[in-house]
Amino acid sequence: MERAMLPSRFETPRLVLRPIEHDDAAAIFSGYARDPEVVRYLTWRPHQSLADTEAFIERCLAAPAASERTYMLVDRGNGRGLGAFGLRRPAGHRLDCGYVLSRAYWGRGLMSEALGEVVGWAMRQAELWRIGAVCDKDNRASARVMEKAGLAYEGLLRRWLVNPNLGPEPRDCLSYACTR
Ligand SMILES: CC(C)(COP(=O)(O)OP(=O)(O)OC[C@H]1O[C@@H](n2cnc3c(N)ncnc32)[C@H](O)[C@@H]1OP(=O)(O)O)[C@@H](O)C(=O)NCCC(=O)NCCS
Repeated sequence: MERAMLPSRFETPRLVLRPIEHDDAAAIFSGYARDPEVVRYLTWRPHQSLADTEAFIERCLAAPAASERTYMLVDRGNGRGLGAFGLRRPAGHRLDCGYVLSRAYWGRGLMSEALGEVVGWAMRQAELWRIGAVCDKDNRASARVMEKAGLAYEGLLRRWLVNPNLGPEPRDCLSYACTR
């Protein structure tokens, strides 16, 4: 049986998550991808030029939509791009996610709102039993977002990810998930 596609859209009171597009490059580059503070706990280095961002979008669009999708997180009122949200389906019954927001919009509950909506959708799908995410052990804001969105702490994944912004050694990560 062919697997259902990941949705093309999510909506929350303040946000829309829609598939990333080539035209998002400038908003992503100037909004967050070149900001060392934003990418501090991520697995990639700050983008040096718009071409880096365009290459990233190209990779996103090349992924098969049934198992991987990157969404632009946009302001529902004015359509401005605020961040991005990635959803991956490494197995038929489970999803992994990741997210990033431009620094100007931190601390307003936006990512908790976005993740909460995606988690709610996932738990209503008959085929899906788990949605999870990991973050660096020192990324308190991300851990808190997961808690607020209904994911439960599962444990410490030792030496799980290499974070080029923090050094060459793999770092410990916190694992969170919501299951049914
Ligand atoms: C993580 C991130 C997406 C959070 O988005 P956000 O919209 O600001 O998050 P919210 O406002 O929904 O919630 C953040 C929570 O973390 C808390 N928080 C923020 N910084 C914190 C810190 N340094 N220590 C402890 N808690 C912190 C906030 O107080 C808030 O919790 P509260 O509502 O209980 O007060 C955003 O900071 C970001 O883009 N960071 C860089 C990219 C990143 O790390 N992505 C996650 C990779 S796993």
